[in-house]
Amino acid sequence: MKKVFVTRRIADKALKLLKEHARVEVHPGDQPPERDELIERVKDSHGLVTLLTDPIEAEIISQGENLIVISNVAVGYDNIDIEAATKRGIYVTNTPGVLDDATADLTLALLLAVARRIPEADSYVRSGLWRGWEPGLLLGSDLKGKTLGIIGLGRIGTEVARRAKCFKMNVVYYQRRRDPEKEESIGVRYVSLEELLSTSDYVSLHVPLTSETRGMIGRKELSRMKRTAYLINTSRGPVVDEEALYEALSEGRIRGAALDVFSKEPVSPDNPLLKLKNVVLTPHIGSATTETRTRMAVLAAENVVKALKGEIPPCLVNPQVLEHRRHSNRV
Ligand code: DGY
Repeated sequence: MKKVFVTRRIADKALKLLKEHARVEVHPGDQPPERDELIERVKDSHGLVTLLTDPIEAEIISQGENLIVISNVAVGYDNIDIEAATKRGIYVTNTPGVLDDATADLTLALLLAVARRIPEADSYVRSGLWRGWEPGLLLGSDLKGKTLGIIGLGRIGTEVARRAKCFKMNVVYYQRRRDPEKEESIGVRYVSLEELLSTSDYVSLHVPLTSETRGMIGRKELSRMKRTAYLINTSRGPVVDEEALYEALSEGRIRGAALDVFSKEPVSPDNPLLKLKNVVLTPHIGSATTETRTRMAVLAAENVVKALKGEIPPCLVNPQVLEHRRHSNRV
């Protein structure tokens, strides 16, 4: 029987599915397995179910003599050395489409939280400082009539745009390729990155982390934003130059930021962003609802099962692997 190693306890429904097709070992606890343990487990595994906090480097992959598939329980897969897996004919899969709504919901929640200063207001009430209704107390910013600039109108960006429209916002977007169909169906306008940054009241990031997007929002980009603008990041931390962001926020060059992702996770207690009042911070919980996490785990399990059966898994992120597998007669 084939063997699958799962690096963390995932939804029972997904484990049950895996167990119908393989011998399944699950790493206990909430923290990722140590590197040495991972290497040991990979050696005799046919399938590996990973989370975005598991760095699956070339050296780990090279130990997978029997490895057929690495199934990430995430839409992002920047934690996996795709090139190394592809060269060895290993399928890499992700879980697209099942977390768009949850992540878009969190994006709007963060946007509202920073615009309406919800965490500050919450602390204020709890602190006992509240003396009564005041005309100027904790004033925030409207959404209606404001411009939301979406960088990356993929599945999640699209859901964010739809929600923003319900809040009566104008939505502009930037990505490499224009999408006239969505422009028409959702009512969004394509602009250059420069125009998006200089005209948006809220800028929201929805790009994957690649060599092109790493550091995409740095000093130059932040300096183009309005002094009254907010930055929201629910994509990947390294898309933003955090040092530059700290400077912009602490010097009042933008009004605020809401971040679910960071350049280093977990965030160090010394991270200066933690000291700023005009920042709302959450611990990478974009997809964190029970329903969504279950759907993600089940989809990840389905990807594994297909691969173990000798079929092409549905959410393949490295289609070039098919060529490698043909050459080595694995397909
Ligand atoms: C993903 O799936 O890539 C998300 O970041 C998980 O929350």
